[in-house]
Amino acid sequence: MIYLDNAATTFPKPPSVRREVDRCLRDYCGNPGRSAHALSLAAAEAIFDCRREAAELFGLPSPEQIIFTYNTTHALNMAIKGLLRRGDHVLISDMEHNAVYRPIWLLHAFGEITFDIYPTYPASPEADVEAILDGIRQRIRPNTRMLIASHVSNLCSAELPLTEIGALCRERGLLFVVDAAQSAGIADIDCGAMEIDALCAPGHKGLYGPQGSGILALRAGTVMATLLEGGSGVNSLDGAMPDFAPERYEAGTLATPAIAGLCAGIRFVRERGVGQIRAAEQMLYRRLREMLGNTKGVTLYAPEREGSTLLFNLDGIASTQAAAMLDKAGICLRAGFHCAPLGHRTLNTGDDGALRVGFSVFNRTTDLEALVRSVKEILRESHKN
Ligand code: ALA
Repeated sequence: MIYLDNAATTFPKPPSVRREVDRCLRDYCGNPGRSAHALSLAAAEAIFDCRREAAELFGLPSPEQIIFTYNTTHALNMAIKGLLRRGDHVLISDMEHNAVYRPIWLLHAFGEITFDIYPTYPASPEADVEAILDGIRQRIRPNTRMLIASHVSNLCSAELPLTEIGALCRERGLLFVVDAAQSAGIADIDCGAMEIDALCAPGHKGLYGPQGSGILALRAGTVMATLLEGGSGVNSLDGAMPDFAPERYEAGTLATPAIAGLCAGIRFVRERGVGQIRAAEQMLYRRLREMLGNTKGVTLYAPEREGSTLLFNLDGIASTQAAAMLDKAGICLRAGFHCAPLGHRTLNTGDDGALRVGFSVFNRTTDLEALVRSVKEILRESHKN
């Protein structure tokens, strides 16, 4: 079995992650931050270790500003619904995932907010920065309060210039929310230097943690409305949630085994180095682009954007049908619209979506060769009929 669906979730996980989840469940999985006994304290220590690792990875001065969520969607909903107020205007990019588009769409449908979409593609990688900033400037209104940017698309490998967008947001007084679903662990992220107010990241993708782990990294001093209220382990006699992070935003028992595994995952990424991981995945990208680009009957989307995902179609075969055929050949990838209709529209993939390959550090060029062999076989068979 060849796994090339790492943009959906990385698989396999590093042995250190599997070992830590197992160790947590066997040795120290008390309820963190609730009781004062040894197992509860040990779990709280594991949780804090993960906050510290994540804060260092994302350039946050204080581990308390790392809030654990169940996934990126959860983090984005917290930031969007917790920070926006009635009458606000929001800017989102033309590559946003439904994790951004749907909460924004719903708030808009309820008459709470208005929004505009700023273009990010197509512009050549060199022309991107000024073109993107101009597109944003043209759409800022007096009531624009937030800008949301998908750091790296979950379709192709288009990346937004966060440093420049963050500086513009700071200059114009906009809250800057970043969807790092495809970039955390693969691209450098420094919340301070990039002026990010809320960074939303998955634990289970490029950070190699278990599913059920996600992160909201919040700028110090930012106080949001809560999405969930409940037990926090502090100020229990008070009806109001605490007014400080992380307890304000982490109602209920945390996913300790997932967070313990995530801690091991972040250590794995930091030991390898984000730059090394990125370079290795770009190397796979270039190799696959070359092989598929030389295959008659294959259309590549945004091939000049080199990164961890490659989007393509096979002439005359619906992407979901092609994915089912590849699955029979033992190759796992994702087809269709990838919960990102805005991006598919921007890339003009058509009515059937497209096939997506997502790499991880565990992929080898032999995986790509097997994929290309199967693609050629599928094209041969389909054109016989
Ligand atoms: N958002 C994930 C993907 O793109 C699940 O596949």
